[in-house]
Amino acid sequence: MAKDLPVDRRFDAYQDFVLGCKLAWTRSLYPALRAHYAEAVAAADAPPASAADVAALLKDDPLNQYFGWFERHLQRMKYSGRHGLAPHFAAQRAELEDELAAGAESGILTLDPAFEQPAYYVAIDIHQHPGGVWSDEVAGYVYERGARTTTPLLEEDADLHHRFTREVMARATNPRRLVDLGCGFGKSSRPFYNKHRELDVTGVELSAPCLKLAARTAVQDQARNVRFRQADSADTGLEAGAYDVVTSTMVLHEMPPSHIERTIQESFRLLVPGGLSIHLDFLTDQDPFRRFIHYGHSARNNEPFMPPLNEMDLEGAHRRAGFETFEVVPFAEMPGTLDPAFTAWRFPWTMIIARKPA
Ligand SMILES: C[S@@+](CC[C@H](N)C(=O)[O-])C[C@H]1O[C@@H](n2cnc3c(N)ncnc32)[C@H](O)[C@@H]1O
Repeated sequence: MAKDLPVDRRFDAYQDFVLGCKLAWTRSLYPALRAHYAEAVAAADAPPASAADVAALLKDDPLNQYFGWFERHLQRMKYSGRHGLAPHFAAQRAELEDELAAGAESGILTLDPAFEQPAYYVAIDIHQHPGGVWSDEVAGYVYERGARTTTPLLEEDADLHHRFTREVMARATNPRRLVDLGCGFGKSSRPFYNKHRELDVTGVELSAPCLKLAARTAVQDQARNVRFRQADSADTGLEAGAYDVVTSTMVLHEMPPSHIERTIQESFRLLVPGGLSIHLDFLTDQDPFRRFIHYGHSARNNEPFMPPLNEMDLEGAHRRAGFETFEVVPFAEMPGTLDPAFTAWRFPWTMIIARKPA
């Protein structure tokens, strides 16, 4: 998405190494830990009923300790190590800021110079990203490159954003206008505006640096059907009753439940009668081991709102906002991930779907 930067083979090799380690963690360490857990359960007096029970059971297991240490430190290496993302892009600041100007001046981006970030948002370095995704002008580049080091690249159209776009468009009825809440650097908006040129797309996001990169990319794509706006998902300032679809990807788990509730109310306000609200996020099932892993990931990755999202009454929040229908549907981010035979670690991807009364 970003323009071609000078090749830095040491940086690329380092980031490839981190990705390779992460894949080993996902594909080898996770199933091995699951096997240790099964052995511990077989030897226990009673099966664990909660994530806390699993934590107690595995407390002294070296593999469990290694699993958590490795996850935490790989993420730290990715951002802050010798060839970490943050120093890498900071070293190219002047050039990147010039490049971002094209997005900022494109006319498709509305920034609010007096914008005040919500307190929850500035309180932590989300994902261990130094300064979060909002405080540094080059943060969008750091985030964009980091997203590529988290999961292996798939063919265009096969990645989770394209797959989710297809799920949304299959459920929407002749959509003309769509809002993408928490659009980040534009990755979740891009398949909508590029694959559906008839659709009018608005990306809403807190982070100005991410928005500038999103706008810059849309200019490169020569897209005329997208605009971006700096605003809170709980208070977008967009026109009421004017959008056929309100969507978000990986956003709800980054805010506290009170803010999620307000975001759901705002989604309802924005939609036309009969409009579709569809958020893609992470909800675990009742399995104590999977919950233990997910909550551990939340702590290790500086994403503290994963457990509260998982435990809040999402259906109640939607019905209180006025939605009539509500369903949660597991989402396959890659082919085969919902197959019971799939043993590697994965996020518990889930679509949260509601419709405004017609
Ligand atoms: C994990 S990222 C996902 C970005 C994008 N949707 C994607 O799929 O690549 C979550 C994004 O939500 C944004 N965000 C968090 N709270 C928000 C809020 N209250 N309003 C708007 N955006 C928010 C963050 O700045 C971040 O860019």
